[in-house]
Amino acid sequence: MNQIEQAREALRNAHRVFVITGAGVSAESGVPTFRGVGGVWKNIDPYKVATPEAFAEDPAFVWQWYDDRRQNLLNLKPNPAHVALAQLESQVDDFFLLTQNVDDLHEQAGSKSIAHIHGSIWEVRCTREETVQTDRRAPLPELPPRCVTCGALLRPNVVWFGETINLDAVNQAESFLLTGDIDAVIVVGTEALFPYIIHWAQSARSERGPLIEINIGETILSPYADIRLDGEAGKILPNLV
Ligand code: OAD
Repeated sequence: MNQIEQAREALRNAHRVFVITGAGVSAESGVPTFRGVGGVWKNIDPYKVATPEAFAEDPAFVWQWYDDRRQNLLNLKPNPAHVALAQLESQVDDFFLLTQNVDDLHEQAGSKSIAHIHGSIWEVRCTREETVQTDRRAPLPELPPRCVTCGALLRPNVVWFGETINLDAVNQAESFLLTGDIDAVIVVGTEALFPYIIHWAQSARSERGPLIEINIGETILSPYADIRLDGEAGKILPNLV
């Protein structure tokens, strides 16, 4: 059996599936990845737009950057990778998708059991009251936007460098993992640079549940993968479900 057949076989018999996605899953929709050729962090210093310090220094500049990304995202659609993952969710008994992406292309494709570990670009958070609201207007009418109830600055509800990841998402993932053995773990389109991604990928894998990595090229997770599928997620995932 080749690797793709092994992955198909694992998913055909799977009841509980855990998936982790990164920027690569949205790349074929036209969302730039962070690292690699044309990556977001190649064009702008993350410390100028994705830290609390940058926001404190120049909230309008930071917001302009997020507003541009929001406007770009408005016109983008889920690709076959998002659709295949939503289809997989509907085929198995128990499914959980942990994404590092701040777009909502998984939800647009129909994913339901999903948590955003790095927050959502479509949510705004009051810097005083910490209240979170969805706001899909792009462009926003005023930059930087302000809270309608208290007048304080709003910030994008995303995780910046130096901040804690979304605890609600952590709890959801942990409780899924604690509920029982996983029959297949899929990690797709991520460099897996953050230790918690490696940790979840490894701890989710069980004796009967292989770790399947789908990526263009190798990552630091690759040595731990039982099955490595090299190529574009939008071509490989529809082939598996
Ligand atoms: P990266 O940009 O670091 O990595 C994207 C990965 O996707 C790379 O390994 C590519 O090889 C792969 N890739 C690109 N196109 C693909 C495709 N069509 N099919 C399959 N794989 C493809 O993005 P992430 O690992 O998601 O965090 O980055 C993680 C976090 O770092 C982001 O959430 C963001 C960033 O800083 C924050 O902003 C907190």
